[in-house]
Amino acid sequence: MLWQTFFYSVLLLSLLFRCTGDESLPEVTDSQEAPMDKREREALYSAIQGFVGDSWNGSALYPDPCGWTPIQGVSCDIYNDLWYVTGLSLGLVYDNSLACSSSLQIRPELFELKHLRSLSFFNCFISPMVIAKMGWINFASNLESLEFRSNPGLIGKFPDTIGNLTKLKSLVVLGNRFDGELPASICNLKSLKQLVFAGNSFAGMIPNCFSGLQDLLILDLSRNSFSGTLPSSVGDLVSLLKLDLSNNLIEGKLPQELELLKNLTLLDLRKNRIYGGLSNNIEKIQSLTELVLSNNPMGEEDMMETKWEKMKNLVVLDLSKMGLRGEIPSGLTNLKSLRFLGLNNNNLTGYVPSKKLEALPCLGALYMDGNNLTGELSFSRKFYEKMGRRFKASKNPNLCQPFEMVISESHKHVLPLGVKPCT
Ligand SMILES: *[C@@H]1O[C@H](CO)[C@@H](O)[C@H](O)[C@H]1NC(C)=O
Ligand SMILES: *[C@@H]1O[C@H](CO)[C@@H](O)[C@H](O)[C@H]1NC(C)=O
Ligand SMILES: *[C@@H]1O[C@H](CO)[C@@H](O)[C@H](O)[C@H]1NC(C)=O
Ligand SMILES: *[C@@H]1O[C@H](CO)[C@@H](O)[C@H](O)[C@H]1NC(C)=O
Ligand SMILES: *[C@@H]1O[C@H](CO)[C@@H](O)[C@H](O)[C@H]1NC(C)=O
Repeated sequence: MLWQTFFYSVLLLSLLFRCTGDESLPEVTDSQEAPMDKREREALYSAIQGFVGDSWNGSALYPDPCGWTPIQGVSCDIYNDLWYVTGLSLGLVYDNSLACSSSLQIRPELFELKHLRSLSFFNCFISPMVIAKMGWINFASNLESLEFRSNPGLIGKFPDTIGNLTKLKSLVVLGNRFDGELPASICNLKSLKQLVFAGNSFAGMIPNCFSGLQDLLILDLSRNSFSGTLPSSVGDLVSLLKLDLSNNLIEGKLPQELELLKNLTLLDLRKNRIYGGLSNNIEKIQSLTELVLSNNPMGEEDMMETKWEKMKNLVVLDLSKMGLRGEIPSGLTNLKSLRFLGLNNNNLTGYVPSKKLEALPCLGALYMDGNNLTGELSFSRKFYEKMGRRFKASKNPNLCQPFEMVISESHKHVLPLGVKPCT
């Protein structure tokens, strides 16, 4: 803060004493253009040139970058009567965006743009490149949003110096090829509302350090190779709305602390190695609207133990491919908001509560195929018409559909495929 105060004081002085000709004061451009410190402008040109290539001549093409010759992807704001670059987005977003060169370099001048509040790279790094640790501290006072999206060239460790950018509200690192462990320094970013590291090659344990991230709303670590158990400190993310850890190698039991996430609406843990039961605390997260646990070897779990009827806000419930045993719990038929119910590819037995499932007013997709359900399906023809292909009950050798429905040729197309007629 002291440094910032000093910086602004110098600027203020420079405005008061512009006529003194003091060499140390910012050199301001002439009055036709948006007034800008010359060093800021030169740093902008050089930083961009580093990304797009030497043939890009900023001073010739865009003599007034914050005024009458705006650059696509650059935004500016005024501080003490001078213009500074506050937003920079590199890579092909629009036809006229700043497309990155395959031999790009991150020049030190990038880090002179200390007023940047938002910096993003989309489809920019194509050739393999490691992001250096240096420089990022310069963005500590102002940067609120940092994005690396769809950069197949970004490899190696994510720089731990990002942990110095304590003003960050949004850190989105999506669809690159970073690997190694996540730096625990990300837990210093106490202003974060959104933290996304999805679709990279990160591995190792998820750091157990979330206790300071009280404002975090979205945590998305999906599509990586994170292993180990889900750390108990996720329970400290009290504001969390969405937790997506799908498509990783997370194993073991879910921490009891999950129940502390009173505002959670989405929990997606599909395709991991979570076992040891649904844990009787999942039903305590009553804010959940989407719960996706499919493709985890839950194994010996008997679904009857979970009090599903308590999760009355559920819209999407996917419990497929979990090795679930027992009967379809009657609690599920109380979930009046349910639109999607996936129970397929488990070891469920017993009868299908057809009438109660049909009575769910919003149900638009019901998958029960690949189990060991028995008896007669007694859904109405109207129900099958409504569901179409979003109803599946095949691969249940002991399940059948009533004979009188099967003989009606005109309606044959609405009947569920792969379910034999009852004899
Ligand atoms: C860019 O253009 C300016 C003005 O037209 C010229 O003076 C300068 O030499 C050019 N710089 C490069 C690197 O081509
Ligand atoms: C910046 O981050 C690094 C790595 O987390 C840390 O070692 C360093 O002390 C930080 N620097 C400052 C000035 O906070
Ligand atoms: C949870 O949501 C409610 C309603 O939106 C809000 O008032 C409350 O502050 C939130 N709780 C936390 C811990 O963010
Ligand atoms: C169902 O249980 C049987 C017998 O225990 C087992 O062999 C089979 O793999 C299980 N099927 C699924 C889909 O879990
Ligand atoms: C399916 O359930 C029946 C009893 O209803 C049982 O006899 C049979 O072994 C089960 N099949 C499998 C593959 O678990």
